[in-house]
Amino acid sequence: MRSLLFVPADSAKKLDRAMTSGADAIIVDLEDSIALDAKARARQSAAAFLKAAMASPARPCLIVRVNGLQTGLTDADLDAVAPANPDAIMLPKAEGGASVVHADAKLAVREVQCGLSDGHIKILPIATETAAALFVAGTFAGSSARLIGLTWGAEDLSADLGAQANRDAQGRFLDPYRLARALCLAAAAAAAVPAIDTVYVDFRDSDGFRRECEEACRDGFTGKMAIHPAQVPIINEVFTPTDDAIARARAVVAAFAANPGAGVVGIGGVMYDRPHLARAEQLLARAAAGKSAI
Ligand code: COA
Ligand code: MG
Repeated sequence: MRSLLFVPADSAKKLDRAMTSGADAIIVDLEDSIALDAKARARQSAAAFLKAAMASPARPCLIVRVNGLQTGLTDADLDAVAPANPDAIMLPKAEGGASVVHADAKLAVREVQCGLSDGHIKILPIATETAAALFVAGTFAGSSARLIGLTWGAEDLSADLGAQANRDAQGRFLDPYRLARALCLAAAAAAAVPAIDTVYVDFRDSDGFRRECEEACRDGFTGKMAIHPAQVPIINEVFTPTDDAIARARAVVAAFAANPGAGVVGIGGVMYDRPHLARAEQLLARAAAGKSAI
């Protein structure tokens, strides 16, 4: 999954528009974009949208961002949306694998109540939204078979840290957030799930957004979250392996296949060893999976 578009759950208009945005996934948001006294209405709107969207052919992946486990709102969120059978929930303010185990148990109950198969609803945690979360980022591995990826957040983390900003004057993340980003990457790799990059809130700045997509792709993220439909095509373009990159990866795989047992090969005057082979195989797997891969 390359592009995941956030949509406030109480906006039927934006939800409809998101369906034709080209996003690989829609994140129906019940959390930060919904005021406390609008939660109940937003849950109903989310459930109605999901029921209709599920039936549409070639639909994107449908994810609901519930409220965090600390809020006391998660159960009512799940009660409202589980019957509509979403593909996954996004778990904000997750604090390591223990949060995933907790959410897993809540989902298992709803799946029984709704007649869904056990483990049907997956979990995509936001792994770095509190200071405490940073210290348990390495504990997601093995927490639940529902875990389908990890993403990270800088907005809530900056509030938790008491910071005045999370980016510098050029729009680049400051040190605490670069740490969170790196922890998300490492935590995802350690848990053998994809890492999804965080949002870019300045949605009119397409150059800055493209640069951040390219840096994320370079560093090992396989997709990025969007907050505006205009960001979706840029994500899809940057995170889709180019024909050139696929050809290079195929050449590396072919060179190793032609030299069974070789630890290192030379192609066009450049040395390739085992890590290069692993990278080439990962790229080809991503290209083959296309948008369906998360
Ligand atoms: N999903 C679907 N459609 C969206 C959208 C989104 N995330 N963001 C904007 N649109 C639609 C608008 O409704 C508008 O539609 P229209 O042309 O039919 O009126 C069109 O895209 C252009 O929007 P624009 O005028 O550029 O932006 P805006 O001022 O209407 O909205 C935001 C700006 C930030 C409020 C809006 O992008 C948004 O709600 N983003 C998601 C917020 C969110 O979910 N946050 C939580 C995660 S951090
Ligand atoms: Mg938040």
